[in-house]
Amino acid sequence: MARKNWKTINSAGSRRVVVTKELCGEHWLQVLQEADCRIEICLSDNILTIQEIAAAVGVRCDGVIGQLTEDWGVELFSSLRSAGVTVYSNYAVGYNNIDRASATAAGIPVGNTPGVLTETTAEMAVALTFCAARRVGEAERFLRQRNYRGWLPNLLVGELLNGKTVGIIGAGRIGSAYARMMVEGHKMNVIYFDLLPNNDLERFIVSYSEFNIAHGGRPLFCRRVEHVDELLAEADCVSIHTVLDDSTYHLINGDRLKLMKEDAILINTSRGPVIDEAALVAHAAENPNFKASLDVFEEEPDLADGLTELDNIVAVPHIASATQWTRSGMASLAACNVAGLLQGYPAWNRPDIEAFLSDTPPRAAPSIVNAKELGIPLLQ
Ligand code: GLV
Ligand code: GLV
Repeated sequence: MARKNWKTINSAGSRRVVVTKELCGEHWLQVLQEADCRIEICLSDNILTIQEIAAAVGVRCDGVIGQLTEDWGVELFSSLRSAGVTVYSNYAVGYNNIDRASATAAGIPVGNTPGVLTETTAEMAVALTFCAARRVGEAERFLRQRNYRGWLPNLLVGELLNGKTVGIIGAGRIGSAYARMMVEGHKMNVIYFDLLPNNDLERFIVSYSEFNIAHGGRPLFCRRVEHVDELLAEADCVSIHTVLDDSTYHLINGDRLKLMKEDAILINTSRGPVIDEAALVAHAAENPNFKASLDVFEEEPDLADGLTELDNIVAVPHIASATQWTRSGMASLAACNVAGLLQGYPAWNRPDIEAFLSDTPPRAAPSIVNAKELGIPLLQ
């Protein structure tokens, strides 16, 4: 029966895969079709409720690709289990929308899409950094409102970042890609806060500093701090790249904002709840020289009261991973997670993931976060 807002690709496929939003590109469809899947795609832009997703999964289904906007908890994983689903993939690298323990308890492997967001998300963090530093959003609004009367010495003056210090909270793949961009492009020093030292990043910056000196530039440093407070007090600009979990919820609160320099810049492309958004709005209102640039929000799509009224906050709607290459790559990885496990392949779970974007993806599921708990073999 044809349902409103849904379309089916390869209706003769023997395995039924439900996809809760239309994804980018075509490659992912090819991957699923080659695994003999019938693909049912929801075309609505509305975020589906738990009940709508359970209804779409129905009584018999093999695999599901879902979204970071959906609440994947015990209820949905039980429905998946009853319908015979044997693999779920999030269309995202982050999986804080997933109750991993419930998925594992229901025996459902959960896939994510790492490795293809790194440079894209880091580039957006750089864009947001400069949007704030150079007041780009505010300047554009000024111009579009026809307020421009000619060049002035004091018009929309911002901050130079070259040679200053950037603080990275979470020096994983995206955080270190952003750090490298700020080092190479803008000769910034780096301090970072992470549970583990990032030796590759530190070595890179030592070598880059030597290169910079050899070309007449200044020495640059990279240092890991023991406590986030130290980073907040020292950095001229702070970019957040951590996961969201109990230890990072409201990591940046009112007290911590007060530790920052009064003209500091705070960028968040990770997850909204890492910042206490109401406290941030209050801080930005009281400190006109402070700037924030946000891609993510605490209660998306809602925004904290007053946020959009402040010129010193730049805000964009969770688009840091939105390049064609990345969004199609995420689709390929999600499809390969589903197709891989449906065909009984092992999990890849290695960093070199780009082979899955090719016409002949490896015979593996690229990234299954609970593979170990579920005893899914890893490719040797
Ligand atoms: C996007 O926010 C993602 O986690 O992929
Ligand atoms: C982010 O961590 C990515 O996988 O690129």
